Amino acid sequence: MKAITVIPRKTNSLKLQDVEVPSPNSHEVLLKVQRIGICGTDRDIISGFYGEAPEGSSYLILGHESLCRVSETGRFVRGLKKGDLVVPTVRRNCPENCLNCRNGESDMCVTGHYKEHGIKGLHGFASDFAMSDASFVVRISESLSEIGVLLEPLTIVEKGISQTFKIQQGRLKWKPEKMLVLGAGPVGLLATAVLRMRGFEVHTVATRERDSLKARLVEETGATYINSKETPLSSLEHKYDAVFEITGSPSVALEAQALIRVNGVACFLGIYRQQQQLEDAGAIFTDLVLGNKVHFGSVNANKSYFVSGAKDLVLIQKKWPSLLKRMITRQKEPEDFEAAYSPESEEEIKTVINFE
Ligand code: BGC
Repeated sequence: MKAITVIPRKTNSLKLQDVEVPSPNSHEVLLKVQRIGICGTDRDIISGFYGEAPEGSSYLILGHESLCRVSETGRFVRGLKKGDLVVPTVRRNCPENCLNCRNGESDMCVTGHYKEHGIKGLHGFASDFAMSDASFVVRISESLSEIGVLLEPLTIVEKGISQTFKIQQGRLKWKPEKMLVLGAGPVGLLATAVLRMRGFEVHTVATRERDSLKARLVEETGATYINSKETPLSSLEHKYDAVFEITGSPSVALEAQALIRVNGVACFLGIYRQQQQLEDAGAIFTDLVLGNKVHFGSVNANKSYFVSGAKDLVLIQKKWPSLLKRMITRQKEPEDFEAAYSPESEEEIKTVINFE
């Protein structure tokens, strides 16, 4: 079968190669991959910044965002059958099976020895067929057969929002009204849609023009789009109950602080490359203390967020029927992998590769 692979930590090692179709053990499922989505993490792995091959393998099959159909089930697998439309989660428990991993929260693994499909120690889904432990596979509605590949990025949002509320409601009486989303890539747009669906006033900031596709999608949800080139963050008049930082830019992340209201919270969802230069750290920490503010980071998502995300995808699709489809701006064949993984235009939102 065809598989898109890299040799982790080696630049320019991306290729399409022929590998054997895996065969599932009694607790696994063989998945017929329909499509995979591409994100910044894939590009970081390709550039040699990130990634780890499975033990005993010289290469790593890429792809952690996927939409699949069950092709074969192991002997002890229950609740899944051939043909089911499914999305496998990304992370698997650490070998020590730490407190959180054994509680179904491998996204909160304490040992750091977890594995991630297509990223760290396990092959991903960028191949004709792929495997997963059946207990990490979530069945989704047939109505999501076109856009279900957006579920994995949506789970990052589901977890970020859920943790924001748990943290805030655990420490004060919190009645948030205004939310700020920094970034209008796939995760930023999905965060905008979920927060709008829950009735909040949402402002979403990005660098694209006001007539760009990203801006139009933001406004379709009833959120306000802010072009940071026209309106720098430092000039924003509003303060927000919660800020979701998704640009991955350290300087934007630093600015997030000043945009939170007293008692507010900032949730960081990007991966930030190191940057030596620091703004005035004293002012940032003083404002944090005097405003009772919280900063927290959130990575990955466990199965519960895939389950809630699958419901939200259906709801988003009902409320704004073309929104999710228009987020998929490029579709490529596996043979065209090089073009697929190189960012295209400024209008690119989500590129997918069809293996169907
Ligand atoms: C994935 C997460 C993963 C993280 C770090 C992200 O792109 O969506 O599932 O935990 O990368 O590896």
